Amino acid sequence: MGESKFERDSRRNAGLGDIYIDTSAEPWINFSPGIDFKLLRTSQETGAWSVLFKCAAGASFARHEHLAAGEYLMVSGKMEIRGGAERGGVTAKAGDYGFEANGAWHDDTKFLEETVLYFTNYGPIRFVDDDDNTVAVLDYKMLREVAAAGRKNLAHAA
Ligand SMILES: [Fe+2]
Repeated sequence: MGESKFERDSRRNAGLGDIYIDTSAEPWINFSPGIDFKLLRTSQETGAWSVLFKCAAGASFARHEHLAAGEYLMVSGKMEIRGGAERGGVTAKAGDYGFEANGAWHDDTKFLEETVLYFTNYGPIRFVDDDDNTVAVLDYKMLREVAAAGRKNLAHAA
């Protein structure tokens, strides 16, 4: 008998780097005031990173420029982008999907209620002040560091 279908697939898939994360077993780690995250995947090769964000009611993301495209899927709650639908932007609710183009500027991303969303960005995001000066650059490396420090803090607190 030759290889079974199972053995063949296992051989092909070995070392390809599939990952599986039981997100309910992962702790929320603080990212910024009112915003926590769970790090799902980062890629040193491409700079892409995927997270779950949990945003408290009243929290917001600071003004930023996308240095790579991003995609999100809303899990729960509500997110107002560029001022929300009432002001010409977008109001995303549970189940909604969005694509944010490479080069896009976002001034005002607000959460009116507790919101969870899945987010992938294919590179860094540059946070800026009102005059477009760089405040911080969020990339896969920074997320790894913040996640590692957060896990360490949680371990100490336990
Ligand atoms: Fe954005």
